Amino acid sequence: MKILVTGGAGYIGSHTCVELLEKGYEVVVIDNFDNSSPKAISRVQQITGKKIDLYKGDLRNGKLLDKIFTEHKIDWVIHFAGLKAVGESCVKPIEYYDNNLYGTLVLTDKMRKYGCKKIVFSSSATVYGDPESLPLTEQSKTGGTTNPYGTSKYFQEIMLNDIYKSDNEWTVVLLRYFNPVGAHESGLIGEDPQGIPNNLTPYIAKVAIGALKEVGVFGNDYDTPDGTGVRDYIHVVDLAKGHVAAIDKISKSGVYTYNLGTGIGYSVLDVINAFSKACGKQIPYSIKPRRAGDIAACYADASKAKKEIGWEAKLGIDDMCASLWNWQSKNPKGYN
Ligand code: UD1
Repeated sequence: MKILVTGGAGYIGSHTCVELLEKGYEVVVIDNFDNSSPKAISRVQQITGKKIDLYKGDLRNGKLLDKIFTEHKIDWVIHFAGLKAVGESCVKPIEYYDNNLYGTLVLTDKMRKYGCKKIVFSSSATVYGDPESLPLTEQSKTGGTTNPYGTSKYFQEIMLNDIYKSDNEWTVVLLRYFNPVGAHESGLIGEDPQGIPNNLTPYIAKVAIGALKEVGVFGNDYDTPDGTGVRDYIHVVDLAKGHVAAIDKISKSGVYTYNLGTGIGYSVLDVINAFSKACGKQIPYSIKPRRAGDIAACYADASKAKKEIGWEAKLGIDDMCASLWNWQSKNPKGYN
């Protein structure tokens, strides 16, 4: 079976390619390397000893998609490609909607043209906005997103639902990720953010290698056990396996939505402490004001994925931090 992975050189994409190849799937990748490196693809090949068919280019380039679908008989598409920085999306909404929404439109148009109607979409817990109650189930209210990145994920889910409504031959799998963390155990692939990281764990990792001075903890007056923000951190390898489980298990057309999380919430201080343990030194931090747009707590009820596709997260916060430290210390400058 052959899978087209859009954005396959990215953080979650590269880890998913490893799991697919190790399960015997053939993998074709399209990536414009806007926020990723071709080295991730060579490292995936090094880990698995298997080859990826790589196309460098943008999803919005319909001619390139024609070429890919003509050269390969694709069974499923796993669609990761897109812009993903929350803050940047508020400054560049046109770029975000163009990349994320138009990219998905060109992709689904070509999938229809070539009769490939099975897609796994990389969605996010951000579609739930500010949760009314926790844990979040797939039935929880969506919408109320607070930034163009989040809104683009929400719109893409609606677009894919409408595509299914218009043509019941489609299989649409919406995977809502909580907070992906960590790296492959080899330390060969991992998250490689450009510039100063926005997200918590890559920031902590940069402090650990001495590239940044201390972690700013954004608020300690939330209504949470220690006052700092609580999130459902999930190991990226578990997350990657969730995609393979969906493809392995789903054989009937329809729209399927799953939360991919652990169901456990950790605070910012919990994560700093777990990372300090993993790297063997205390990570310095100081309390800063709340970050605009942040919510107090967010964690999943992930039981639906377990029940329907037999997937559950196996790795805990210590594995996440140890593997992130392994990647960061072996690759202090990421792929450069
Ligand atoms: C954010 C996005 C989410 C996106 C995810 C990508 C929002 C509302 N959500 O999640 O849509 O999918 O990134 O991984 O922006 N924190 C600090 N100091 C830091 C950085 C973060 O204290 O330097 C805190 C935050 O306040 C939060 C927690 O750490 O409580 C996690 O933050 P972050 O890693 O940025 O992820 P989210 O904001 O949960």
